[in-house]
Amino acid sequence: MSRYILGVTGASGAIYAIRTAMHLKRLGHGVSLIVTKPGRDVVDFEGQNALFDYAEKVFNIDDFFAECASGSADYAGMAVVPCSMGTLGRIAAGTSDNLLVRSADVCLKERRHLVIVPREMPYSLIHIENMERVTRAGAVIIPASPQFYSRPQTIEDLVDTVVAKVLKHLDALGNNENIVPGWNSFSAK
Ligand SMILES: Cc1cc2nc3c(=O)[nH]c(=O)nc-3n(C[C@H](O)[C@H](O)[C@H](O)COP(=O)(O)O)c2cc1C
Repeated sequence: MSRYILGVTGASGAIYAIRTAMHLKRLGHGVSLIVTKPGRDVVDFEGQNALFDYAEKVFNIDDFFAECASGSADYAGMAVVPCSMGTLGRIAAGTSDNLLVRSADVCLKERRHLVIVPREMPYSLIHIENMERVTRAGAVIIPASPQFYSRPQTIEDLVDTVVAKVLKHLDALGNNENIVPGWNSFSAK
């Protein structure tokens, strides 16, 4: 099993973070958590503090001595869930000015998985250009755009349609494994 970094920012949608952490742990992976200061406020405001229960390690946002600040640490990749437009801009600009942004920068330079789940609407041209820039550098943008064809019955079911994509692009799922029914379960009529 692998180790992943989960970055959580001050964008709305902390439920996406907790579901990602929960599924990674359930699948047997280790989760190293980095939460920005606004991220902690929003996680608390949205009632998702149980997020921290799923982490193997929690790193301080200012701790550049943490292992994930270095390319030598054996992480399989990183997801930023949800990703604010501020953090997206910092990753796109390569500022490396906090541990989350530095860890994302490390994933890009080491050619490891970097999945970014932006949460904003509508997007400005600046947001779109930043998404283009990180995509060109190797990141995968997975917007918080849930699908409805699997007929989700709860908010968690709906959120998991996004989390399933995140897990797939992190290579965190085994062969033929998924957390929501795939399209082939519905299209074969
Ligand atoms: C309740 C709440 C919801 C927010 N939602 C978003 C959002 O969906 N997207 C976004 O880009 N910023 C959002 N913000 C603003 C960010 O928290 C703010 O820009 C912050 O500086 C982001 O910092 P970070 O990227 O270091 O976490 C929200 C703020 C609050 C208080």
